Amino acid sequence: MASGPAIMSPGDAEAHRGVDPGAWARPSLLSEVDTEGWVALPTGLAEFDRVLAGGLVPGSVTLLGGEPGIGKSTLLLQALADIARRGGRALLVSAEESPQQVKLRAERLGTIGAGLWLVSETSLPGVLAAIEEVRPDVVVVDSIQTVSDPEIGSAPGSVTQVRECAYRLVKVAKCAAGPVPGGQGPAVVLVGHVTKDGALAGPRVLEHVVDTVLSFEGERHHALRLVRATKHRFGPTGELGLFEMTGSGLVGVPDPSGLLLGDRRPGVPGAVVVPAMEGQRVLLVEVQALVSQTKAVMPRRSAQGLDGGRLALLLAVLERHARVVLSGADVFASAVGGVRVVEPAADLALALALVSAHGGVAIPSDLVACGEVGLGGEVRQVAQVGRRLAEAQRLGFRRAVVPVSSPDGPPGMELVRVSSLIEALAALSLLASSGSGRHRRSTPSRAELAGSAGETADG
Ligand code: TYD
Ligand code: MG
Repeated sequence: MASGPAIMSPGDAEAHRGVDPGAWARPSLLSEVDTEGWVALPTGLAEFDRVLAGGLVPGSVTLLGGEPGIGKSTLLLQALADIARRGGRALLVSAEESPQQVKLRAERLGTIGAGLWLVSETSLPGVLAAIEEVRPDVVVVDSIQTVSDPEIGSAPGSVTQVRECAYRLVKVAKCAAGPVPGGQGPAVVLVGHVTKDGALAGPRVLEHVVDTVLSFEGERHHALRLVRATKHRFGPTGELGLFEMTGSGLVGVPDPSGLLLGDRRPGVPGAVVVPAMEGQRVLLVEVQALVSQTKAVMPRRSAQGLDGGRLALLLAVLERHARVVLSGADVFASAVGGVRVVEPAADLALALALVSAHGGVAIPSDLVACGEVGLGGEVRQVAQVGRRLAEAQRLGFRRAVVPVSSPDGPPGMELVRVSSLIEALAALSLLASSGSGRHRRSTPSRAELAGSAGETADG
């Protein structure tokens, strides 16, 4: 285009948009934008507030996604009850459970108080009417997939329904249906079920219309639950919230490593602890491996809570650069406790666990390992080594196998600096037993490691 930007006269614009120009948003100086009322409302659950960078912001929309049964309704009922207890107006729209079910759960959680409103409703107009009537500070819609607008033809839970209902609820948050008429809208939280493969229609299509996307994760058979933000317009996304599901609801876990290392059995081959980073937190996680000879043409490879691709890579590196051949064995690897450790910093610990399992030689229990393993068998530097080692030291670990360029560790922590996987194996006397490819329960190596292999590090 040759000419500059076309400037419409108000008349043109009116004809163009068909609306009164008075209804348009007026530009204002950024410095003069009114942010009063945009103060995050703490949920009272410290681990949840940590992820939210303070709490739920009025007028914002948060999507909490997670597998069915993971604890989304429990978490939000606890948060609403706490907000209500501190004088806030909280509305729970339960589109899945009857008022009686919700009340029984609340009684179990000991969370019934004044200021907590409830409506069991699946029809969108009914939900909007309830919000209009209660004018809450916070409204939770549980779940967005079970709310539907009868005026839309498609079935409840369909992409069209989920998207349209979410749009309408976003409008409620943005258009002042909050406690003060004409003021800030409520903080809206939408619950969305996702399946393990993320297949279910819904949460995925909503991610761009909401301000914050939280995911609630964990293994249903473990008590540990993790909340993290994958999108957050009001703070950083690196934070991690940790909870334990107990008989009386979710309880924050400020010291997760203690919980994760609780059931360790020292002196068992195939186990190595890695100080892993989850957001800004260090989690000490035990990585376990089991190697079992098989005659199958396609031996099994299983990675639970670990990256399957990195397991395959490490097996190839071990074979090529350390002559540890596991192609005739089933290999099972897992991160203990229901956490997922997928960062490359866990490579070294996993590789050591594999060789330890293969050779039947235990790794000293007061030792941690971290480092990325490259395709050439080299051990590469990872971020935040200092913080990782400080946390390991706090939990009683005394030795660490780390990349060669690592800074000094905390006092009382002996560093074993290695530049390659071979060096790491040699330092732990794992090299000889693995080259032969035989199973070995070696007394000499145990003796070499004696004095440390039997000690417990958690203390
Ligand atoms: P729920 O919050 O209903 O999960 P979601 O809304 O994500 O589907 O929680 C489901 C599980 O949590 C259920 O299997 C029972 C368990 N649970 C507890 O262990 N303790 C409790 O206090 C509560 C309320 C639930
Ligand atoms: Mg639920």
